[in-house]
Amino acid sequence: MIAEKSATWILLLLVIFSVFFDPSVSQLDSRWAAKKRQMREKVRKMFYHAYENYIAHAFPHDELKPLTKSFTDSLSELGNLKLEHLPQDYNGSALTLIESLSSLVILGNYTEFGRAVLWLSENLNFDVDARVNLFECNIRVLGGLVSAHLLATDSTNRLLQGSYNNQLLYLAEDLGQRFLFAFDTPTGLPYAWINLKYGVMENETTETSTSGCGSLILEMGALSQLTGDPRYESAALRALRKLWSMRSSLNLLGTTLDVATGEWIEHSSGIGAGVDSFYEYLYKAHILFGKEEFWRMFHSAYLAVQKYFRHGPWYHEADMRTGKATYWQLTSLQAFWPGLQLQIHHIGNSFIFGRSMGCYPKGICWIIKQYILQRSIIHCALNWQSPHFTCIKQLKIHGIYKWVNLSLIPLIYTPKWKEGLPALEM
Ligand SMILES: *[C@@H]1O[C@H](CO)[C@@H](O)[C@H](O)[C@H]1NC(C)=O
Ligand SMILES: *[C@@H]1O[C@H](CO)[C@@H](O)[C@H](O)[C@H]1NC(C)=O
Ligand SMILES: *[C@@H]1O[C@H](CO)[C@@H](O)[C@H](O)[C@H]1NC(C)=O
Ligand SMILES: *[C@@H]1O[C@H](CO)[C@@H](O)[C@H](O)[C@H]1NC(C)=O
Repeated sequence: MIAEKSATWILLLLVIFSVFFDPSVSQLDSRWAAKKRQMREKVRKMFYHAYENYIAHAFPHDELKPLTKSFTDSLSELGNLKLEHLPQDYNGSALTLIESLSSLVILGNYTEFGRAVLWLSENLNFDVDARVNLFECNIRVLGGLVSAHLLATDSTNRLLQGSYNNQLLYLAEDLGQRFLFAFDTPTGLPYAWINLKYGVMENETTETSTSGCGSLILEMGALSQLTGDPRYESAALRALRKLWSMRSSLNLLGTTLDVATGEWIEHSSGIGAGVDSFYEYLYKAHILFGKEEFWRMFHSAYLAVQKYFRHGPWYHEADMRTGKATYWQLTSLQAFWPGLQLQIHHIGNSFIFGRSMGCYPKGICWIIKQYILQRSIIHCALNWQSPHFTCIKQLKIHGIYKWVNLSLIPLIYTPKWKEGLPALEM
């Protein structure tokens, strides 16, 4: 506590000092701009390195195996590790190409985007005897196709020069129809696995995860809005509502459940694997569809997380029934959480800064930038709405990556509620 107070005082003094004596803020700003350019160029190079090697050694299969320069059809192999049922001439779904479409647009490569769209339009086929994971196929394939369709038809971009006739949307619709079989359960909660050609297979497992049932609404909702066919959104919404109705009196959910009975299997959960995207989708669904219902669910779920999973700057797992801590572990999938908190402009013990630093006294910005440049924070997430960075506590110090407890760093971000969003009372 005392240490925390003196750290606050030191920071305050530094701020006062730099506000009055502001040595070289503009020089630092230009160094920061140069650093950003350099990082941007690095990302571009990394993208093309990965993309071009995928095209050279793996396309049209799903993914590149970089060490052997070979490929894997990961979308279907995930559900069929013994490769028993895959057709002999199965060449995958060009998964990496689908996932790269929006990156190509962001990098401004409309020529390659156009080529990719044309290839997919002519060659992608979902009528294959392959068992795939509904969640993975949704976020990667359906999400990839729907977002690329939106980019291709965005009237502010002249991406495809008239050659685009909604082919990606037709593909997305074809896939969405295949998904619908998964929702044919007594609870409306979808099976975790489907066969693209034959629907749900005999004796399919009824076990699935919270993410598996609760991370479908963005893609399927968007598909309904684009096609005018309400079935996709209805199915995803029914599943989400059912899942939400299974929360405990503490507003907590478990990690795995049975889609036939609607009973929980694993009562312990956190914000990592098996659950993570459930929270993310609630908030983003509110933004995308503007429905209060999603905000209300998110609001309650978020408060319960902060109350039962958070311990200082860390998040552990807890039993949904009692709120008692179960597993004290930190996992990589939790890394999205500060990004989500930044989007709702709520800062707990996370070290977060945003708004391109524009709204803070320059001195504070200066200290933060110095902190970043010196410690080379490695887990930085880009906000999807504007260029925000989120630090999540893994720092490279003396060449070694370490998890660091940043709770001594005082809060520097004053929450400002997004206009129109009901405030989140803690
Ligand atoms: C997969 O690729 C092989 C080799 O290029 C080709 O002979 C076969 O027709 C392809 N399969 C399909 C379903 O297109
Ligand atoms: C677009 O992508 C292709 C394929 O990777 C590459 O050959 C080309 O140079 C890229 N164009 C631009 C403008 O970056
Ligand atoms: C499904 O389970 C039943 C009962 O255990 C079994 O008789 C049948 O062979 C199974 N079917 C398949 C396709 O595995
Ligand atoms: C991090 O530091 C704070 C302040 O010293 C402390 O209260 C908290 O327990 C620490 N958390 C962990 C996980 O060590």
